[in-house]
Amino acid sequence: MTSKEIRQQFLDFFKSKGHRIVPSSPVVPFDDPTLLFTNAGMNQFKDVFLGTGKRDYKRAVNTQKCIRVSGKHNDLEEVGHDTYHHTFFEMLGNWSFGDYYKPEVIEWAWELLTEVWKLPKERLWVTVFRTDDEAFEFWKTKTDINPKHILRFDEKDNFWEMGETGPCGPCSEIHINLGNDFENPKYVNAGLPECIEIWNLVFIQYNRDENGILTELPAKHVDTGMGFERVCAILQKKNSNYDTDIFTPLIDEISKLSNIKYDKDLSRQGREEDKIPMRVIADHARALTFAIADGAVPGNEGRGYVLRRILRRAARYGRKLNLHKPFIYKLVDILVKTMGDVFPEIKDKQEFVEKVIKAEEENFNATLDRGIELFGEVVSLKIRQLLEDKYKPHFNVGWAKIFLESVPDYLISIKKNPSHKTIQLTVPIDKFKLSQWSKELRDKLLGHEPKISGKDIFKLYDTYGFPIDLINIMAREMWFIIDEEGFDKLMEEQKQRGREARKEITMTSTILSSVSLEIVPKINTEFTGYDELKSEAKIIWHEKENGNELIVLDKTPFYVEAGGQIDDLGYIILETIPLNVIDVTKIDNKTVHIIENTKKKSVSTGKKVLAQVDERRRWDIMRNHTATHFFHSALRKILGTHVHQAGSYVGPDRLRFDFTHFSKVEESELKEIETLVNEELRQNYELQHHRNIPFDEAKKMGALMFFGDKYGDKVNVVQFGEFTKEFCGGTHIYNSSQIGLFKIISESSISSGVRRIEAVTGSGVERFIQSQFEQMKSSEEKIAELLEDKKKLEKELSELKFEEKKGQISSVLNNPSEINGIKIYKAQVTAENNDELKSLGDELRSKTKSSVGVLFSVIDGKVGIVCVVTDDLIKEKNLSAGKIVGELAKLVGGGGGGRPHLATAGGKEITKIQFALNKTEEIIKSFLNH
Ligand code: SER
Repeated sequence: MTSKEIRQQFLDFFKSKGHRIVPSSPVVPFDDPTLLFTNAGMNQFKDVFLGTGKRDYKRAVNTQKCIRVSGKHNDLEEVGHDTYHHTFFEMLGNWSFGDYYKPEVIEWAWELLTEVWKLPKERLWVTVFRTDDEAFEFWKTKTDINPKHILRFDEKDNFWEMGETGPCGPCSEIHINLGNDFENPKYVNAGLPECIEIWNLVFIQYNRDENGILTELPAKHVDTGMGFERVCAILQKKNSNYDTDIFTPLIDEISKLSNIKYDKDLSRQGREEDKIPMRVIADHARALTFAIADGAVPGNEGRGYVLRRILRRAARYGRKLNLHKPFIYKLVDILVKTMGDVFPEIKDKQEFVEKVIKAEEENFNATLDRGIELFGEVVSLKIRQLLEDKYKPHFNVGWAKIFLESVPDYLISIKKNPSHKTIQLTVPIDKFKLSQWSKELRDKLLGHEPKISGKDIFKLYDTYGFPIDLINIMAREMWFIIDEEGFDKLMEEQKQRGREARKEITMTSTILSSVSLEIVPKINTEFTGYDELKSEAKIIWHEKENGNELIVLDKTPFYVEAGGQIDDLGYIILETIPLNVIDVTKIDNKTVHIIENTKKKSVSTGKKVLAQVDERRRWDIMRNHTATHFFHSALRKILGTHVHQAGSYVGPDRLRFDFTHFSKVEESELKEIETLVNEELRQNYELQHHRNIPFDEAKKMGALMFFGDKYGDKVNVVQFGEFTKEFCGGTHIYNSSQIGLFKIISESSISSGVRRIEAVTGSGVERFIQSQFEQMKSSEEKIAELLEDKKKLEKELSELKFEEKKGQISSVLNNPSEINGIKIYKAQVTAENNDELKSLGDELRSKTKSSVGVLFSVIDGKVGIVCVVTDDLIKEKNLSAGKIVGELAKLVGGGGGGRPHLATAGGKEITKIQFALNKTEEIIKSFLNH
């Protein structure tokens, strides 16, 4: 039976019992802050159990995607080391919401297992909560289970709770014993692979609150959960979940990628070391794929950090299989092919999931090998140290050196020498070989579990990004333990340093507000700056501080820094005299204007003034702020909705936007984003400013919130067409085309998973273009200069090279031959081209008297020849270089000629050069005889 059929049979069975088949909820429960990941099928029905929610059905059945890696239900440590725990698994479940109860569910569970699936009754065991006589009775009367197979257990095993709080109740579990001793009760709940729990029937009747108090729920419910992968292994008669058709395609692919065979689990114990990495990787790839498809992303905190830890564990297990390049992302495709029709979300998000995993793998790969290396160093150093400490007292000085370096292989023998009362220790080590370190050696040599120091762990964590649980696994593999306390202390110290840095900032602002709060009157400043940049106002309070004047008005258009938009600057005009506002701050809903060092005496409460912000500056700020919203929306459209704002700066000069994203934003993506923003800005959208609307209404509109921000009951929403809608208290332009242009100027990383983009708008773009243009102009000039220099240098270089080549001529001059008193200089030389060859000929001619010179060279794969004849021989012997060269050329398959004193020729057959050289004298002689 395939896993697909098994899943379907479960659903169909309960459908026939009046259950509605419902979809799995996402594995990332964005709506439940008490949960990092969905850990049971009942999570999505929590509200129904608590009586706060309703469904239009009373019975439901489904397969639920679950992840159990944190909190109350955490199986991470077991994963891969055994054959039946997983980080991600499917839970088959059926539910009754205040409808049927214990008798029905017990009867049906038995029917499905023993009649539909025909599991051997004699191997099945059930447990009930120690006081649950009811359930005990129903097992006896509603099924034909052997009554000896009904056992009672206490809270630890038979009282199910979702988490620290939430719905809970006594439960009844069904176990199967697949071993030989299956009639023996001692295996049940013993944590052994031959006897495992397959199905849990929970009778939900309580809620546990924050104080740990249980209260009865308004109605009683049934919540069951069956381990799908386990049931498949049992029905497919496999010893391990990893041998079922759920996992084999993944394991096969890992085998293929690593070129290492996976031997099937031969027994349910199957704990063989070499299989663990493959199982862990297959398991973790599933958790990562489903969690990311459902919207989680690896990061530094909470859910994100859990995913990061899972991924890093898998990556590091990959190293054990010699997988050094990103590989986990390649398994996504296998999952899509095998599970994509049951869970279409992984198919829809495939590309995104692969991208996220790959980027995260690349990120960790940068430090993984170095971290592993460091870990090896730490471990070997520690072992050496311990050996030294333990054995050194028995040896001479300098022992350690011999002990550790002198001997070739890793073997140890300890000899006692009774007559000398000493121990002779021979440790043949040339280099410490960690791969040969074993538990036996550890016990023999050290006799205890060595510890890795908190400092070393902290370094691996902080510098190399190794999660603590991964370090723990690595330590265990070396039969080490870790000093977690020491690590925690260092972590705490680091956090403390961070807190102290932050403390200073909050301190200053509390002092200021506590001083001023008492004196400022109870009237709030009305903010007029959404609609005007100049407001007539009245001074309601003022005071001198450090020579500056602090002024509070009843109304002001001055915006005080919030949500990234910086303070307004400008003037307060008092009796036609402008007072320079150099800063503004908000204290208890009042805007305090800080006036530069004014000698003006006439500031007094009650006086009328004109408050006027620096208009040009404010317009630049508004352009950047509105553009930030457009940009945010474009980011989410092009990179994906995992993008969330993580911080921003909106000033007159530029805008800066920090956001969550797992990798560098590619050039092509930046271009796409920029184009989209500009296209939308040109749409001429009018600002729709929804002010002071109820929070819920804003949420209903689908307005984007800044995660982690606290909002009051009334909020402002800033909207431009349907392109962007955001919660925002800032100030904005009135029409999108007032922004002009938007231009991204930089992209960078500010921390893992958070990117920063800076951009400019309007006059900022103008300035940007101007400065780029100037840079370009000065670059052009520089390039022209460089090209000129290059030409000069090339010329010098070729002259130098030629000087070197002229050196060849001196050796040609060394051994001339002679006919009738005429000297003949001949040789094969190196020349780049014909000009050079000619120049070499000239050089030769100028250095000799009464002579003929012949030089051959290979130029571009062909033969080049130059012949020179001195003037006396032209006159007296009627010799001609042109004629000689003509004859020589014939010998190398070519032709040529020229003037009597210097002539060149070419030929094709370079292999004939030597032959032609040998014939030179003969040819010259033939011309002399004329
Ligand atoms: N909620 C129970 C469990 O997780 C049964 O579904 O075991």
